[in-house]
Amino acid sequence: MGPVRELLTPRLVLIPWDQRFKEDFVRLSGDEHVMKFIGSGVWSRDYALQRHELALEQWAHRGFGMRAITERAGGAFLGLVSLGDGQSAGFATPALEIGWWVDPQAWGRGIATEAAAAVRDEAFTQAGASSLTACFNSANVQSERIMAKLGMSFSGDVTDRYGQPARMYALTRAAWAAAFSGP
Ligand SMILES: CC(C)(COP(=O)(O)OP(=O)(O)OC[C@H]1O[C@@H](n2cnc3c(N)ncnc32)[C@H](O)[C@@H]1OP(=O)(O)O)[C@@H](O)C(=O)NCCC(=O)NCCS
Repeated sequence: MGPVRELLTPRLVLIPWDQRFKEDFVRLSGDEHVMKFIGSGVWSRDYALQRHELALEQWAHRGFGMRAITERAGGAFLGLVSLGDGQSAGFATPALEIGWWVDPQAWGRGIATEAAAAVRDEAFTQAGASSLTACFNSANVQSERIMAKLGMSFSGDVTDRYGQPARMYALTRAAWAAAFSGP
């Protein structure tokens, strides 16, 4: 495992999860607009703090995980992209799952797509994924569009980590290599 690095995209710096993002995480996870399509609904402060600690632990143990999306110009916190163990039934293992939340004030600017594309590539080049998955509530059309733009395709109906029905999209390493890592 190499040194933990920030990822740079044209507009964004994606920073490994850190104590400084705790209050932003409590705020986003408590926002009904952000959590509308998340199976859990809004999170309490206590639950958000538990998940914050888990995100820090995952980085320490795995060398990848949740990243803050921040703006290169000015450094504002815009949201997060997560990368963790995913549902693997039917996929080459290890399967990693990607997810994204953006601050409602920054929606509609392509922020989630730009951040998620960088983490998709990290999953295959740095984190050892054999496949990448993502799940969404079928009404979350923005997320389905992002998955399609990431090169992912529909793979089946599943139950998410909160027990809610969800649709899964996936990208195999072979499909990623063919589409994104060639000359
Ligand atoms: C989903 C979310 C991350 C999108 O963030 P964003 O930065 O606004 O997303 P982007 O701008 O990168 O892309 C959204 C895409 O959806 C499209 N879109 C937006 N509204 C749409 C609609 N009603 N129908 C179809 N497509 C729509 C956009 O046009 C864009 O695609 P395009 O670039 O091809 O035009 C943001 O809305 C969010 O944080 N939602 C709450 C958390 C959440 O649901 N996370 C995902 C859980 S699976």
